[in-house]
Amino acid sequence: MSAIPRHIAIVMDGNGRWATRRFLPRVAGHRQGVESLRRCVQACLDRDVRVLTVFAFSSENWDRPQDEVSGLMSLMVGVLAKEVMPLKANGVRLHFVGALHALSDKVRRGLEQAERDTADNSKLVLNICFNYGGRWDIAQAAQRLAEAGQPITEASLNEAMALSHVPDPDLVIRTGGEFRISNFLLWQSAYSEFVFSDKLWPDFDTAALDEAIASYGRRERRFGKTSDQVVAGRGA
Ligand code: IPE
Ligand code: IPE
Ligand code: MG
Repeated sequence: MSAIPRHIAIVMDGNGRWATRRFLPRVAGHRQGVESLRRCVQACLDRDVRVLTVFAFSSENWDRPQDEVSGLMSLMVGVLAKEVMPLKANGVRLHFVGALHALSDKVRRGLEQAERDTADNSKLVLNICFNYGGRWDIAQAAQRLAEAGQPITEASLNEAMALSHVPDPDLVIRTGGEFRISNFLLWQSAYSEFVFSDKLWPDFDTAALDEAIASYGRRERRFGKTSDQVVAGRGA
């Protein structure tokens, strides 16, 4: 097994607590979370990770206080204005994944423009899950197939899912000390390796990422087979 996961997915959790511990408003934690993401993207580029998928806003996060939701929306618009050019220069291709039609026109136009601006890149695919939920994804895929009168199979669902442009994540990391999936990649993480970190997302540095990758490298992925079969397959 290659020690470097091809696709890493991250539940970037703990921004609010990071801010609260410093007596700052929660949105200051989200701003710091963007810095952490920038560092993580660079680390993935340096390590030849091919796909990074991050959970930035869940279907359920609309239920937060209105000022936090609007703070997150304007943060996204501001971040795109500032970050798209450097991402483009570094070979990053942006994809936004989620129920994007439900966003305001301003936010949606920003996301679409960022996708267009980076469409020729291929060094690292950065999927930003925004207004995303794993249940939403499965339901929208099934609905699209039903409307097209197509059979619903694992393969056809896979094709219709929002992350059909990338392989399933090899490694899923959740920061912030919680041991739950919170409606992240329910379908795609069927055989992912999981790492749970106590670090709050703004504190999740390159050393922590390397630790997670090292932990991944020590795992034996069996995909339902026996260990003997996996070892024999490696020699083949
Ligand atoms: C994750 O951090 C970012 C979003 C959900 C937008 P949180 O905001 O959930 O941070 P905590 O869990 O409250 O510390
Ligand atoms: C998951 O974190 C969503 C994102 C990181 C965007 P939450 O903070 O929303 O998850 P719960 O509510 O603790 O499960
Ligand atoms: Mg949280």
